[in-house]
Amino acid sequence: MSATAIPTAPTPRDIRARKGGAPLVCLTAYSTPIARLCDRHCDIVLVGDSVGMVVHGLPSTLGVTMEMMMLHGKAVARGLERAMLVIDLPFGAYEEGPAQAFRNAARLIAETGAAAVKLEGGAHMAETIAFLTARGIAVMGHVGLTPQAVNTLGGYRVQGRGQDRARVLADARAVAEAGAFAVVLEKVPADLADEITAALDIPTIGIGASVGCDGQILVVDDMLGLFADFKPKFVKRYGALGDAAEKAIAAYAEEVRARAFPAPEHVFSDKEPQT
Ligand code: KIV
Repeated sequence: MSATAIPTAPTPRDIRARKGGAPLVCLTAYSTPIARLCDRHCDIVLVGDSVGMVVHGLPSTLGVTMEMMMLHGKAVARGLERAMLVIDLPFGAYEEGPAQAFRNAARLIAETGAAAVKLEGGAHMAETIAFLTARGIAVMGHVGLTPQAVNTLGGYRVQGRGQDRARVLADARAVAEAGAFAVVLEKVPADLADEITAALDIPTIGIGASVGCDGQILVVDDMLGLFADFKPKFVKRYGALGDAAEKAIAAYAEEVRARAFPAPEHVFSDKEPQT
């Protein structure tokens, strides 16, 4: 009798080979249970540094540390069998230069088992991407809106409009030429995302970009509708879990106050068998 084989996760090479093929399905995850839910449906699960804002309540991703990435990376890895795990290098962990980037990327990969790291930035990060890939670290790029640069960009606006278009295109080209196996395009005009997708020989993964990208990614808590007060244009809500959770918590509070919970079936007696 043959056991059912567990499908193995794609490698960065497999993902690269998907250029122009069936769209790549990607989501973020920060915990084991959510990673388990994503695993069956996603090609890539990203432990994004968005964890700082989504899970830890930080005002931006700038306060995210290597320790936070490590902790959430390990938790997500425990929930994955068939999706590829990618982990973000947090702000301050790679910008000093290639050697710092290698040290921290190697640590993230060794300790979490991620297949690749993602880092933000275009042309100015090309040297670092080439350094990492030449030394066995697969890199996913991230251009357009790069949230770690929120202070110099002056907010979370769409990038690549008008005269800025050539810069974003050049950034995407630089990342691909440096050896990234895929690149996230965040918050760029749809026709620019299409132009970049046509120009690069690596998959583009859009978030607030275009349906024509080679794949899509969303922050899982956003698409599940966990936050009532956060709904950027590029997010589609596929659920309303925030509302459902609030209703459940309100019902629990009411029952506790009314001494309706715990009911007899939730408590133990001397007589029932040991469980
Ligand atoms: O940190 C993150 O979640 C990301 C995705 C939104 C691409 O970088």
